[in-house]
Amino acid sequence: METHTEEQKVNMPRIGDAAPQFSAATSQGNINLEDYKGKWVVLFSHPSDFTPVCTTEFVGFQDIYPELKQLNTELLGLSVDSVPSHIAWIRSIEENFDTKIEFPVIADLDKQVAMKYGMIMPGESQVETSRAVFVIDDKQKIRSIIYYPLTTGRNMQEILRLVKALQTTDEHGVSTPANWQEGDKAVVSPPKTQEEAAKRAQEEGIEYIDWYISKKDV
Ligand code: BEZ
Repeated sequence: METHTEEQKVNMPRIGDAAPQFSAATSQGNINLEDYKGKWVVLFSHPSDFTPVCTTEFVGFQDIYPELKQLNTELLGLSVDSVPSHIAWIRSIEENFDTKIEFPVIADLDKQVAMKYGMIMPGESQVETSRAVFVIDDKQKIRSIIYYPLTTGRNMQEILRLVKALQTTDEHGVSTPANWQEGDKAVVSPPKTQEEAAKRAQEEGIEYIDWYISKKDV
């Protein structure tokens, strides 16, 4: 059974928490999370380099990277492998899949970041990081957390949709309904008082369904 030092105490961040800060070695040199302030960050972990599902995910993450960048969003990968391992795997992905990985991949050999973000699920694996995704906003607050097991590759379009949904919420003060896609109507905040509820049907510019559910274009 693996033990962790006090500095490596497992933390499980929650939505709304400040993103735990870290400095780390990556396939593109050292980075500090705080240098990303002002940008959104999708921080994701994968179990290990040179594994099949992770390889398909890396191709998928690279495919959505240009669109994420257009959303002022950076991508950061992570596993407990070394920088040379990341470099060798990135080169292999380029050779085999004609895909150049352009985002940095953290080499978290001492699990410093994995422990701060609760990326290891000991019931599944003591050594590998699970498929975790943390969406961190431009003020470095954790806005969403997704976990997938080792055996299931993530849906890249859902990660992209999630970032767009969160940014739409911030920009327009709305929520986004089930299966929302960019261009769809968003949900207006429900009334907080009986008086507001009574007035909702008369409001301009909304699609009124009932007092507690209305939508609008965003
Ligand atoms: C994979 O990426 O294929 C994989 C990694 C760890 C456990 C199971 C599958």
